Amino acid sequence: MPKELLLKNKSFYVILTNLTVILTVIFMCGIVGAVSERNITPILLAGLTRLEYRGYDSAGVAVINKEQNLECVKTLNKVKDLNEKVTGIEGNLGIAHTRWATHGLPVESNAHPHIVNNRLALVHNGIVENYSELKQFCINQGAIFSSDTDTEVIVQLINITMQKDNLTLYDAVRQTLPKLKGAYGMAVIDAENPDEMIAVRQGSPLTISLGFGENFISSDPMALLFISQQYVVLEENDLAILRKDSVVIENSKGKVVFDSNDTQKSKYKIITSTQDDAGVTSKGGYRHFMHKEIHEQPKAIAETLEGCISDNRLLVECFGQEAAFIFSKIKRVQIIACGTSYHSGMVFRYWCEDIIGIPVDVEVASEFRYRNPAIEKDVLFVAISQSGETADTAEALKIVEKLKKQAEGKNHWSILTISNKAESTLVRYADLVFLTRAGFEVGVASTKAFTTQLVALSLLMIALGKSQKRLSETVEKRMIQGLRKVPKLVQSALDQEEQIIELSNIIANSQSALFLGRGTMYPIALEGALKLKEISYIHAEAFPAGELKHGPLALVDEETPVIVIAPNNDLLIKLKSNLEEVSSRGGKIYAFEDKNSKLTRTKSVNVISVAENVGRISCPLLFTIPLQLLSYHVARIKGTDIDQPRNLAKSVTVE
Ligand code: F6R
Repeated sequence: MPKELLLKNKSFYVILTNLTVILTVIFMCGIVGAVSERNITPILLAGLTRLEYRGYDSAGVAVINKEQNLECVKTLNKVKDLNEKVTGIEGNLGIAHTRWATHGLPVESNAHPHIVNNRLALVHNGIVENYSELKQFCINQGAIFSSDTDTEVIVQLINITMQKDNLTLYDAVRQTLPKLKGAYGMAVIDAENPDEMIAVRQGSPLTISLGFGENFISSDPMALLFISQQYVVLEENDLAILRKDSVVIENSKGKVVFDSNDTQKSKYKIITSTQDDAGVTSKGGYRHFMHKEIHEQPKAIAETLEGCISDNRLLVECFGQEAAFIFSKIKRVQIIACGTSYHSGMVFRYWCEDIIGIPVDVEVASEFRYRNPAIEKDVLFVAISQSGETADTAEALKIVEKLKKQAEGKNHWSILTISNKAESTLVRYADLVFLTRAGFEVGVASTKAFTTQLVALSLLMIALGKSQKRLSETVEKRMIQGLRKVPKLVQSALDQEEQIIELSNIIANSQSALFLGRGTMYPIALEGALKLKEISYIHAEAFPAGELKHGPLALVDEETPVIVIAPNNDLLIKLKSNLEEVSSRGGKIYAFEDKNSKLTRTKSVNVISVAENVGRISCPLLFTIPLQLLSYHVARIKGTDIDQPRNLAKSVTVE
């Protein structure tokens, strides 16, 4: 095996000099930090608890106590365990972290904060891509490492820089930053300067929440809403200096862009949170957040429609003041998204091309960002993201922005972001914004965010059709009337839960499941399979039903349930013959139909009627519901960690 492995991508080289080193890639982690007149330990832990939904495999807290000593506690269990371990630890300055690792062992030594010299403590979200060479440099300078993480390299480097020239923490961080390649959000404290915290953002979100006699940092301001509703978002390459009575933010050139004691002159504005915090910590009588969120869909859909419709006509301005003009000019739509959000984009392609004839390309952001797509002149880029922070999608938009600038306005490109988070990175990149009103989604598996994205995309299709005069008033009116009925229809689909629970008992005993759909039901089948594998850990694959005979038919046997989505539409006849293909090979079919599909029930064809007379737009929304319920109940029967499934996290903020 070669000793050196060279990985190349567009912008950088990563040299792994020693394959025995465990490369620890940390992302989606949570950061909380506080500096205050009062004891901050309980605040840090309450903040971490609110970040638990993001998923993590270890957690830790470091506090500078009254004697100016650093005290650090870590756990491989839940934050609750940390709560028990911190008894007696008090201080006015501290940082805390939940870590989620994709590579490397989740052992205590790799958990954050990382401490050097009993003096510096650092928490970090992101990846230091050149960590191998930096680590070697630190070792050559005499550093002794106690973890396998890239994060420890940062704090070791800061320490070496401080010691060498007797620098302050601020100066040492400033001198260290240019040496780091990669993406990070981090916070660092120094026991010899117990009044100050330094925080830096590059590629991984960080916000500063403001208080009286206290200030806080977090990777998601939601974590601190219980203590402060006012916050400032750090921009890329910003460095913040937090003290109990001041917050100063500098840009990469050292220019002050925010000063909490001089907000009038500050470039950055303070955001007052509009998010409803009430439901975040409460499961509202449900056993899991995911179950609660599935049942919140009628309300979430109704709220997303609110304000967009007047007198059965769509208000195109709900996409922004410029929307009608921009929409009238574009010739093509390019959707960029990941995971579940990508599936909603796939549904949009069927709608948009079929109903208004505007071509749509849909691509996962992680592919889009690493190829050189040939894109035409008049394109609307649509980023879809629940969190608004997904790193792949953000990077893809950055590329679009760069190319747009290079073309000096000649390519007529515009960006629309559809997101559930008003103050997010993807929203800031956009020319136009549509906010879904799903409310806070805690369960890692996305449910109400998906159906509200579908609502947003159906409105987008109508808005494009209107702006380009490709949709008559009558059709617009009919569609809007149809959309208005969706919350009720979704509720009746939810009411089928008992039948789905029965089916779940069968699926829970399977090793593997196949999902089939045609047309818009193909992305819904993909979404159903993703949900099932995410939370029940059952292997699941989705196929366009017409593809069966081109390979997947080989997987059909008596043990593998075939889950079919069969609305009564133009493709039903075709789908019925696909079902024959499955039955004749001994496959067991579990079909969701609408009452008019009239599928023949046999020993091997089990059918659940979900709805009646569903329209083209409401169909994908309605048939999503039984699949969400199915995956939820299968996972519940299997006893998996439904809200925080293994290896997954809510907001994928680094590649
Ligand atoms: C699946 C799921 C993920 C996300 C994906 C994109 O249930 O939640 O596949 O959809 O990570 O996240 P957002 O939409 O936040 O960009």
